[in-house]
Amino acid sequence: MSLVYLNGEFIPPDQAKVSVFDRGFIFGDGVYEVIPVFGGRMFRLPHHLARLEASLTAIQLRNPHTARQWNDIFTRLSANNGTVDQSVYLQITRGVAARDHAFPPNISPTVFAYASPLNYPPAEQLAKGVAAITTADNRWQRCDIKSIALLANALLRQQAIEQGAVEAILVRDGLMTEGAASNIFIVSGDRVITPPKGPYILPGITRDLVVEIAHSHDIDCVEQPVPIGSLRSANEVWMTSSTKEILPITRIDSRPVGDGKQGPMHVRVFALYQQYKQAFIRGEVG
Ligand code: PDD
Repeated sequence: MSLVYLNGEFIPPDQAKVSVFDRGFIFGDGVYEVIPVFGGRMFRLPHHLARLEASLTAIQLRNPHTARQWNDIFTRLSANNGTVDQSVYLQITRGVAARDHAFPPNISPTVFAYASPLNYPPAEQLAKGVAAITTADNRWQRCDIKSIALLANALLRQQAIEQGAVEAILVRDGLMTEGAASNIFIVSGDRVITPPKGPYILPGITRDLVVEIAHSHDIDCVEQPVPIGSLRSANEVWMTSSTKEILPITRIDSRPVGDGKQGPMHVRVFALYQQYKQAFIRGEVG
């Protein structure tokens, strides 16, 4: 792997060392972002930086860098990999201190970032869709914070993998929230529906872009609660994330979604998303 960024330095990964007393290691006390890079430019960077700011504020950490400084760091990291599609991973922890749950005064955050080539879902998954399971959303009440403490998400996704699926669709009080590592959309008739933002979902950047694209092409798209029954009777179900883009889910709990194939609304919205991405690469959209 090319150079990584750690606390102001660009260094080889095997030289990047963090203290065992880092609160990220001890408590999972930190936040992160995953930002796609297309044609050497960070996709929706202002949106990712706004979400980072919100996560940092929620855990009472000061943003260590300005938008321009972040952009410079990410540009330098991604330049190592040429112009292939990439993702930048960025993590900020509260820093190093003797173990105590309460925040230690006057410590510096640990800032780590790297860029790596983006591995999209294989074409076959896009064409045929993937399987998901439903399971109880047993995470905490601040899923809007992009926290590095992802044990619940990891356990939930592992549950899906062990049942031959790729994602776990989470259900809280009879309502669908999101995936273990994605947001979820359903299509009911001609209407595209995704749950509203709130404490139980991560405000996904891909999710917001899909809503934006749908609205700008007069596709009926609403943000409203999705009862589990609506998920089960949906014509189409999609998962969205920066690394999976928009992926059809064609089996849920071993039963087909709609006719069990990639649906026409997915074909349309996925094409519009790819057009938007190409326009971004050409510098026509921000
Ligand atoms: N995860 N919800 C959860 C719980 C997520 O972990 C993610 C993304 C999303 C989608 O957000 P976005 O569209 O901004 O990527 C929703 C990233 C990709 C990850 O943890 O690797």
